[in-house]
Amino acid sequence: MCGIVGFIGKKRQAAPIILDGLSKLEYRGYDSAGMAVFDGDSINVVKAAGRLDLLVSLTHGGETTKGLAGIGHTRWATHGQPTDINAHPHLNGKGTIAVVHNGIIENYMALRKMLVGRGYEFKSETDTEVIPQLLDLYYKGDPLEAIQKVLHRVEGSYSLGIIFADHPNELYAARKSSPLICAKTEEGAFIASDVPALLKYTRKVYYIGEEEIVRLSADDIAFFDVDALPVEKEEVEIKWDAEAAEKGGYEFFMIKEIYEEPRTVRDTISPRIRDGKVVIEELGLSDEEIAEVSRIHIVACGSAYHAGVTGKYVFEGMARIGVDVDIASEFRYRKPIIGEKDLVIVISQSGETADTLEALRVSHQCGATVLAIVNVVGSSIAREADKVMYTWAGPEISVATTKAYSAQLVSLYLLAIKFALCRKQITEEQAAGYINDLKKLPEQIELLLGGKERLQRFANRYIAATDVFFIGRGIDYAISLEGSLKLKEISYVHSEAYAAGELKHGTISLIEEGTLVVAVATQKELYAKTVSNIVEVKARGAFVLAVTNVGNTDIETNADYVIYIPETNSYFANSLAIIPLQLFGYYVSLGKGFDVDHPRNLAKSVTVE
Ligand code: AGP
Repeated sequence: MCGIVGFIGKKRQAAPIILDGLSKLEYRGYDSAGMAVFDGDSINVVKAAGRLDLLVSLTHGGETTKGLAGIGHTRWATHGQPTDINAHPHLNGKGTIAVVHNGIIENYMALRKMLVGRGYEFKSETDTEVIPQLLDLYYKGDPLEAIQKVLHRVEGSYSLGIIFADHPNELYAARKSSPLICAKTEEGAFIASDVPALLKYTRKVYYIGEEEIVRLSADDIAFFDVDALPVEKEEVEIKWDAEAAEKGGYEFFMIKEIYEEPRTVRDTISPRIRDGKVVIEELGLSDEEIAEVSRIHIVACGSAYHAGVTGKYVFEGMARIGVDVDIASEFRYRKPIIGEKDLVIVISQSGETADTLEALRVSHQCGATVLAIVNVVGSSIAREADKVMYTWAGPEISVATTKAYSAQLVSLYLLAIKFALCRKQITEEQAAGYINDLKKLPEQIELLLGGKERLQRFANRYIAATDVFFIGRGIDYAISLEGSLKLKEISYVHSEAYAAGELKHGTISLIEEGTLVVAVATQKELYAKTVSNIVEVKARGAFVLAVTNVGNTDIETNADYVIYIPETNSYFANSLAIIPLQLFGYYVSLGKGFDVDHPRNLAKSVTVE
């Protein structure tokens, strides 16, 4: 996510404090940085793509950017490449209002169109730039009134830092769905995206609430609701140390990122659903062109490949289009046969995985159009693909992917719905039903996260396990693949995922007394078959953990331990069933005392063959 720091002081210069605060937020991942400081006459802006060090050197550690009030930002690109122009802060045309923003303005295209119609000019490709322009439109001398009107217009998520040139003794902030805190000390008042930026100055902070606006001055902080009515707030004392604070109080980034999955899924889905329809502008294909696609090839590595396996079942089931799924390191050498009307979809969180990048190039050599589903804006795969659909998961720090994987899944669901409609395989009503199911996923994931203590107790029983088997049929097999990888890559417990129907062809010989078998049974048409596989392995002494839909209580006749997932469309079950399996892997690793975020032998991005 982006990082925000703001300061307004009595004597202390703002720039050095902003730079120091931003350096404490670098862990969040970013690709550009900038700040705006009011020097008594005007707002001075320094911003650039690249690392924060560049900003520090451009401003000699902040010395050359004078002023007592300012806002700073480290940007994790979503809308618009990581460039100097797209870096924050963004200003109105007159340069009298500066804004930094974290989040996604979902209706920015409509707002931009309205503003252009009123003569406003835009410099950047960002969604953020509509905010200073809207403020300019509504500003009649009262910052609070202008901010209030803007917040009633924008849709999506935001945490904002704002300065107005003709209100030099004030700094404003606002938030919705994107965390923002503030604090007051003897030296002045601060805003920040996260605690680490402020720990050097204070341990007492205010958590800005949903749709609240804050007016800060060197001596005071005032809170207002979105109707500009005053709000009372209590200070909170931070008990974390700096390192823990980077993880938002969580012990490891992995568990923090698992808890970000509801927001990640929401951020990836909601901007692509407009007036109840799936709108994937970045696909850049007309409905007719989509209908003409004859076959899809999904190519990826690791968890991204597992998301692709799910994609195969969903595309083929819903859109009735043939899909091949390949591991990129195999695809790139097997001289693939790609038809001229085929579409290649490469999936990559980092956008730098060497095998996936080469698979993309091989696809281009075959004359194919390549769509990339990528999390890192401006990454190599994003730049070389013909089309890019970003998963707005924000930076994923832990080596084991969780939230980016969930965002890949919902991106594939959205594409499948679009393809199914264009190929006239589903009706608008059916599509609306799927969309309703998608919209429920974030809160259903929240619900599953509530069961983490129970799962931790179960996981602690298996920290000494040596072999674990994950079995499932159809999409449950895809879920098993990812569940198995999550366990083995961070806990070093050997595990295998098997198509449940395949057990009898060899692997069942490995099942012994007490062997843990995780049976995933979310697919209604295959449920009975998977239950029979549970009976098979139980007969050989296995201990069975079943993951199934709420209501399937009959499974308790055979399974030893059951995790129920909320009711959803079978196509989307992976998005829910994977949550307890991610938590299971996490807690086994935690129980073994490992550094969960940095598992041995692994890197976050495999940029070598
Ligand atoms: C997932 O937990 C692993 N870290 C790994 O399998 C990863 O999914 C794979 O290396 C692909 O990475 P990418 O999505 O960045 O291309």
